[in-house]
Amino acid sequence: MDRRTIRAPDDFHLHLRDGPMLALVAPESARHFARALVMPNLVPPVVTGADAAAYRDRIRAALPPASGFRPLMTLYLTETTDPAEVVAAHAAGIVTAVKLYPAGATTNSQAGVRAIDRVRPVLEAMAEAGVPLCVHGEVTDPDVDIFDREAVFLDRVLDPLRRAVPGLRVVLEHVTTAEGVAYVRAGGDIAGTITAHHLVLNRNHILAGGIRPHYYCLPVAKRETHRQALVAAATSGDARFFLGTDSAPHPDRLKEQACGCAGCFTATHAIPLLATVFEAAGALDQLEGFTSLHGAAFYRLPPNAGTITLARGAPAGLPAKLDGPGGPVTLFDPMIPLGWHVTGDAA
Ligand code: NCD
Ligand code: ZN
Repeated sequence: MDRRTIRAPDDFHLHLRDGPMLALVAPESARHFARALVMPNLVPPVVTGADAAAYRDRIRAALPPASGFRPLMTLYLTETTDPAEVVAAHAAGIVTAVKLYPAGATTNSQAGVRAIDRVRPVLEAMAEAGVPLCVHGEVTDPDVDIFDREAVFLDRVLDPLRRAVPGLRVVLEHVTTAEGVAYVRAGGDIAGTITAHHLVLNRNHILAGGIRPHYYCLPVAKRETHRQALVAAATSGDARFFLGTDSAPHPDRLKEQACGCAGCFTATHAIPLLATVFEAAGALDQLEGFTSLHGAAFYRLPPNAGTITLARGAPAGLPAKLDGPGGPVTLFDPMIPLGWHVTGDAA
């Protein structure tokens, strides 16, 4: 079969940035995705309902004319977040979820949470009101090896937290380990997002034969067995797993330096890459669930009414870099030949 039509996809973890970078990357997501859950790690972060509404309006203004793309907004959880503010912003339809960044875990996480007990009242209010918590699941303890930070987070932070706040609906974001997959599979009110790049990357790709800063993101890609566990989870049809690309653009000059920042920019070709990975796993039939159905179900949204059609063959004219406001922005190099493109896609 050389063509596949699926419901229009959702990206349940996306960094759209702000200002000129937003103008550059918003059309890249709007090309294939109907909705995206937009991360709040701006400087300063998106912390109130008013911040989220204003950011949503800036995103809408950055979209191509007549784009039907819908940004779903998140709040950045801080130790001073007001429970009533969160519940009100969610009830008003301004905010879809709240994002927990352990302070220091990743890009622009300084305003995040240091002591989880301090946000307990917010989490209890969210459990009560059914507001999902999206979790960057890594400990920041310098004594914990970076490759172990996700697994340790599950034991030390997430599991005690979920026991302390029963009913809290949690998304373990950008799962990168077999332990993360197993934790999500163990069930309860939990789901996991998986990125496109973590389905193809292992840590050798970043470090063996030269350091490749454009493969560096957080959580960092792990060893090959973990990548295989992610592919198995994503392609299994298990509705607890769905797409969050974590597409995270940075100007090349900030990635290609002595202390390069974390993030892979994948928005442009995430769907062709996923189709290629799913087909290689013999699971093209599971693609639509992963990209377009499971996440919507978790977030209690109807699936998108529109569709996209995939056709065999690599996307034509895919750029290596976009010309960004702060210089070039490198598009993630998927390492494998892309076997599918989206028809009608200008790229
Ligand atoms: C993200 C970013 O650049 O905002 N970077 C990344 O490596 N994924 C932040 C995040 O999601 O951790
Ligand atoms: Zn992210």
